[in-house]
Amino acid sequence: MLKIVVMVSGGGTNLQAIIDSVKNGMITNTGIAGVISNNKNAYALKRAEENGIPARCISPKYFETREEFNEKLLAAVKEFRPDLVVLAGFLVVIPPEMIAEYRNRMINIHPSLIPSFCGKGYYGLKVHEAALERGVKVAGATVHFVDEGTDTGPIILQKAVEIEQGDTPQTLQRRVMEQAEWKILPRAIELIANGKVRVEDNRTVIEE
Ligand code: GAR
Repeated sequence: MLKIVVMVSGGGTNLQAIIDSVKNGMITNTGIAGVISNNKNAYALKRAEENGIPARCISPKYFETREEFNEKLLAAVKEFRPDLVVLAGFLVVIPPEMIAEYRNRMINIHPSLIPSFCGKGYYGLKVHEAALERGVKVAGATVHFVDEGTDTGPIILQKAVEIEQGDTPQTLQRRVMEQAEWKILPRAIELIANGKVRVEDNRTVIEE
């Protein structure tokens, strides 16, 4: 049984997709041990509570230094003893100690087709604003392992989504979530839980 911790900052629709997939059997062999948010007002915390999942808020605001926050964040994750850490809209820079501790055992969902519209400054709605500004015709999402760079780790799954005439950042964000994120994040967890993903030379090999 793969024990996962899901880290969130906001609405938690990706967390919801994971919860639903565990319930309906799209994700097998997996238990959600806990949810961690950096934001006490995140609706994601409510979703955790409603589903009986232990949840904690660790905010940088609670600590005097970033180092202390980083330490407490890692300690909170470790307390759940996860096999896999899932960043589901977690918009805080991951401390290097945590990246080292969970190398190839921490995944992230990013709302673009990496390597487009990713890296520093590209998160949430900003990604979709940039895509529309550039006039690309295809958007999408990526699930990848987390390494020291921003959105640079080995790619696990990607899914493309058409951009439509008249799209706003909000309509595009919603379509990317519905058609890509909520599908590939649960799918990636299912593959990992069943030993179907390995990393070789900074790339993944998937056994479907
Ligand atoms: C999602 O679109 C996710 O891909 C994005 O934040 C949103 C969170 O929504 N993550 C990033 O931009 C990470 N760089 P949610 O809280 O409803 O799952």
